[in-house]
Amino acid sequence: MNFTIKIWRQSDRNSRGKFVEYKTVDISPDMSFLEMLDAINRDLAKKNEDVVAFDHDCREGICGSCGLYINGRAHGPQRGVTTCELRMRHFVDGTTIIVEPWRSKAFPVIKDLVVDRTAFERLIQAGGYISVDTGGAPDASSIPVPKANAEEAMDAAACIGCGACVAACKNSSAMLFMSAKVSQLALLPQGDPERRLRVQQMVRQMDKEGFGLCSNTYACETECPKKISVAHIARMNREFIRAKFF
Ligand code: SF4
Ligand code: FES
Repeated sequence: MNFTIKIWRQSDRNSRGKFVEYKTVDISPDMSFLEMLDAINRDLAKKNEDVVAFDHDCREGICGSCGLYINGRAHGPQRGVTTCELRMRHFVDGTTIIVEPWRSKAFPVIKDLVVDRTAFERLIQAGGYISVDTGGAPDASSIPVPKANAEEAMDAAACIGCGACVAACKNSSAMLFMSAKVSQLALLPQGDPERRLRVQQMVRQMDKEGFGLCSNTYACETECPKKISVAHIARMNREFIRAKFF
């Protein structure tokens, strides 16, 4: 397969960026999108040119670092897959593909396609964890958890912190990411003692980082590679109201 790839190039967060066009030849349909970028970088390296910077780590859909905007979609055209799992066979041979970094004030560009997502780390530091030592793993079923709660908490825990929800949202809202963490911990007995404090501190930090609020467009759920449901946002809103008034 052959493609024209237009990639956003930006040398640092204070420089002006621009699209640069690259031609690829003999791309295997089975290659992942990141392997296709590797091929571009191999050619650039051979010519002693600056390679395209992009984030990646596990390349297995686990770490959440490979977020790219591809043809106007976070993580590209396939639903429920990360960029590293996206295969070139999902693109039409001979077409032009446009690749951009996540665009959000809270995620400034570091270089080319790499953005600074430490705002997410600060959200977690604000309360997205259990602060007491819970000791070793207890025997199974020694703390009864309703099956429905356990399953919903597990679904919420599938969030990989990629930031696609923020990138896809016209308000740059981080509420899907936040709510996945709030839900996961609110549904389990271990997270219960701190649930009121957690949601208030995390929402305060979210506002401080400059993320917007949810206006129910569902873009986040559509583009989330782990199919996290907006139902968690509804739970986070309930948790917040409960923490404030009851
Ligand atoms: S909620 Fe989905 S899109 Fe948002 S950070 Fe988690 S995995 Fe990524
Ligand atoms: S590189 Fe880890 S999720 Fe894509």
